[in-house]
Amino acid sequence: LTVAVLISGTGSNLRALLEAAASPEFPARVIVVGADREADGLAHAEEFGIPSFVVPWRGAAEREEWGEELDRQLQVWAPDLVVLSGLMRLLPAAVVARWSPRLINTHPAYLPEFPGAHGVRDALAAGATRTGASVIVVDDGVDSGPILAQERVPILPGDDEHSLHDRIKPVERRLLIDVVRRIATGELDLAASAI
Ligand code: GRF
Repeated sequence: LTVAVLISGTGSNLRALLEAAASPEFPARVIVVGADREADGLAHAEEFGIPSFVVPWRGAAEREEWGEELDRQLQVWAPDLVVLSGLMRLLPAAVVARWSPRLINTHPAYLPEFPGAHGVRDALAAGATRTGASVIVVDDGVDSGPILAQERVPILPGDDEHSLHDRIKPVERRLLIDVVRRIATGELDLAASAI
């Protein structure tokens, strides 16, 4: 299974996937990494010798053009699966329509709780005692697609956004790697999951 990973940030989830895919037993290969900016996480792609591309975000007014360029880049590589892992942009509907359900996203909350760009912060602000990590199929909503995997993560007294996100990320990484593996082996049929 060939995989493209799209990031905006540090790419810790990307790195975990690159490390897993470096094992000959892992049934998937990351063939390209894309970003909407010169993300720090692109360094992981370079370290693992994986090609990367950047489609610079130029503001919401140009979302459609940005999406079209991103789509063109992805079509060059024609991956079997696109993984959004810390991509902090909503994909235009045309991009979702072309790639979903072979388009999945990781989210640092127990969806449908706390969707959106600040799921960790929102869980803390809500005074929740637990949150979670989720892997979903991307649909044209915000973190609203079919849930492929999720797991609860406790919120501890004294947690701040950073400490809580640091507790969520390892769970997120484990779920993501397992979902990619199950998609690659055919155990998880994305077409069946799409609503
Ligand atoms: C991850 O928790 C991801 O789910 C969220 O932002 C974080 C990105 O972290 N959207 P990283 O860039 O993978 O370190």
